[in-house]
Amino acid sequence: MEKAHKLEMNSPGGRDPVLGRAGEHAGSEGKDHKCDCAEAYREIDRVIQAHKGEKDSLIEVLHYVQERLGYIPKDVQVRIAQTLGVSLTEVYGVVSFYNAFSEKPKGKHVISCCQGTACYVRGAPDVLARLEKELGIKAGDTTEDGLFSLEVVRCLGACGLAPVITVGAETHGRMTPDKVPVILEKVKRGGGEIEKVAGS
Ligand code: FES
Repeated sequence: MEKAHKLEMNSPGGRDPVLGRAGEHAGSEGKDHKCDCAEAYREIDRVIQAHKGEKDSLIEVLHYVQERLGYIPKDVQVRIAQTLGVSLTEVYGVVSFYNAFSEKPKGKHVISCCQGTACYVRGAPDVLARLEKELGIKAGDTTEDGLFSLEVVRCLGACGLAPVITVGAETHGRMTPDKVPVILEKVKRGGGEIEKVAGS
């Protein structure tokens, strides 16, 4: 799932110097798509401009964009780098390092599958393989319908329940591959939060 957004940043004539063409930009995979979130981008630009030259504000600005858009598009990363005075490499490094940041729009339900040592030795690779199979995506991707995003993490802080996944705020411990379709079905049916099955 990849969306791009109308951009009307505070540039002369509404033309964005980074993006070249006013009112549109391509997603990180280069597809042209449009949506009506110009106001969000104007707000983002105001926040970025408010931190002009403040290299130490990088994390704060990234958090704002992530919160506002649900991800941090490449073109916004360029804008942040140019305005705050940090290198694009540094911005990209921070975005890709922290799980809190994403370069792609995330699905309604984000599934984190732990592949840390405790989980790995208790069968986490099989759980991940089943998740990928049931969802029809690879780790790092989002389903076409935008319902699920799947990501791999190194520890969820619940090693005693290994192997562990989280679906949104819910933790599911002692996972097995066969529990995967059951949990996914509950999420789809409920369309929202599901009961906690940690340790079940
Ligand atoms: S290693 Fe998986 S929860 Fe810690």
